[in-house]
Amino acid sequence: MSNYVLIPAAGSGSRMGCELPKQYLPILGKPLIHHTVAVFSAHPAIARIFVVLSPDDALWTEFDSPKVAALRCGGTTRAATVLNGLNAMADAVNEHDWVLVHDAARPCLSRELLDRLLAELQHDPVGGLLAVPVADTLKRADSHQRVDHTEPRAGLWRAQTPQMFPHGLLRRALEAMGAEVPTDEAQAVEFLGLAPRLVPGDGHNLKVTYPEDLVMASLILGGAEMNQ
Ligand code: CTP
Ligand code: MG
Repeated sequence: MSNYVLIPAAGSGSRMGCELPKQYLPILGKPLIHHTVAVFSAHPAIARIFVVLSPDDALWTEFDSPKVAALRCGGTTRAATVLNGLNAMADAVNEHDWVLVHDAARPCLSRELLDRLLAELQHDPVGGLLAVPVADTLKRADSHQRVDHTEPRAGLWRAQTPQMFPHGLLRRALEAMGAEVPTDEAQAVEFLGLAPRLVPGDGHNLKVTYPEDLVMASLILGGAEMNQ
């Protein structure tokens, strides 16, 4: 079974509030998405990386690796982008091959976490995702934005990416959801009645959503470069 990567990169980054889509904002002298792709292109167990762009993307610059291919079939939601990408790569892959779906906006995934995900799921019958147990105390708000009660956090995890599933299963799962839009791949697989495995990640694998996340991502990537 081979490992493929699909990177949805067709979003506009509206919460970032910048003109430039966030995947192209500079971090340590390179567009953010180049850091995201680099950890996969350097990994010998990754066969190919498909980056799914918006059809009118004018900012993508070719990556210096024969393993990286751009597909210009992004959709109006993240789930649509992923499904379009799965369809576009279908001729190149087997239905049992693994697909690791990873947000373009998560540039700080470490080699160590990627190794852990691949190792823990290689023989899994369903697949799974990186996730982090919730650390903060959780409050349920009432309609006046006052605390109604404290929610128990035991057993709650924050989902990250990569999310790793067999190509055929993930395609079927996303198609089965129809008009309902899942927020991640695992939710679509759950919809089929399957239970994706949670693989412990870490807080460094953050998603750049707001401007302060970009500052944090620069610090994490800068620290990782210093340790090389
Ligand atoms: N994404 C995508 N196609 C879409 C929407 C999102 O490929 N139609 C991608 C984004 O490019 C990003 C990932 O999905 O890499 C995670 O989505 P998110 O963080 O929500 O990014 P945006 O949708 O771009 O940001 P925002 O929600 O703030 O507009
Ligand atoms: Mg979004």
